[in-house]
Formats: sequence, structure tokens, C-alpha cells
Amino acid sequence: MRLVPERQGLAYIDDETPQLGIALEPEFQNRGFGKLMMKAALAAAWQHGYQKVSLTVHPENPARSMYQACGFKEAGLRSAYHLMVAESAA
Ligand SMILES: CC(C)(COP(=O)(O)OP(=O)(O)OC[C@H]1O[C@@H](n2cnc3c(N)ncnc32)[C@H](O)[C@@H]1OP(=O)(O)O)[C@@H](O)C(=O)NCCC(=O)NCCS
Repeated sequence: MRLVPERQGLAYIDDETPQLGIALEPEFQNRGFGKLMMKAALAAAWQHGYQKVSLTVHPENPARSMYQACGFKEAGLRSAYHLMVAESAA
């Protein structure tokens, strides 16, 4: 997760929202690690006081359903990628 100021980054929504990228080496994919990592990343963001986390994902990436299960909601399109935003419950 990175804070990127001045409207930089495909998932930019504002200067206060970290943009998240996630990837596992192929041999570790589809074994539940991604979901665990995502939950841990969001917990860390909320713990550090951030209110939102954003990402972009290709429309055909099956990880979209995992992001939704972790609380991300569709928030528009960015260069044909889906912008998704998770919000802290606090
Ligand atoms: C995206 C990524 C981090 C997800 O991590 P992961 O460990 O593979 O995903 P998980 O095993 O935790 O799966 C989470 C859920 O998504 C589903 N899922 C994930 N990848 C899938 C695939 N390729 N096909 C079908 N379902 C998939 C799983 O069925 C699982 O659903 P469940 O919780 O209902 O069982 C990983 O697949 C990856 O690194 N992919 C390549 C890079 C990439 O696409 N990064 C994201 C860019 S936005």
C-alpha cells in the first residue's frame, strides 16, 4: 500500500487514501494466502487510521470476487480497470 500524492497512480482517489497492489508468486496462488494477506493489509490500514483503501483490477481477474468478500466496492472505471474502494467501519 502506498500513498501517492498529486493524482498519481491508477487507483488514486485522494491524498489520504493508500493505493493497494497485491501479487503472489504463481506457486502460492489459489491457496488462500491472498485473502489472508488482503485481510491483514486492511486491518493494518485501519489500525494506522486510514479511512479508505483503493485498488484497480482487470475486469477478467477472478480476484475481484475476493476483493468484494474483503469489503471492496466498485467505484467506477479507470482505463478499463475497475476501481474498487474499501472503507473502514470506524
Ligand atoms: C490476486 C492474488 C493476490 C489472489 O491471491 P490468492 O492467494 O491466489 O487468492 P486466494 O487463494 O486467497 O483466493 C481468494 C478467493 O478468490 C478466488 N480466486 C482467486 N484466484 C482465482 C482464480 N485464478 N480462479 C478462480 N478463483 C480464484 C478463490 O476461489 C477464493 O475464493 P473463496 O474465498 O470463495 O474460496 C493472486 O492470485 C495473484 O497474485 N495473482 C496474480 C497477480 C494479480 O492478479 N494481482 C492482482 C492485481 S489487482
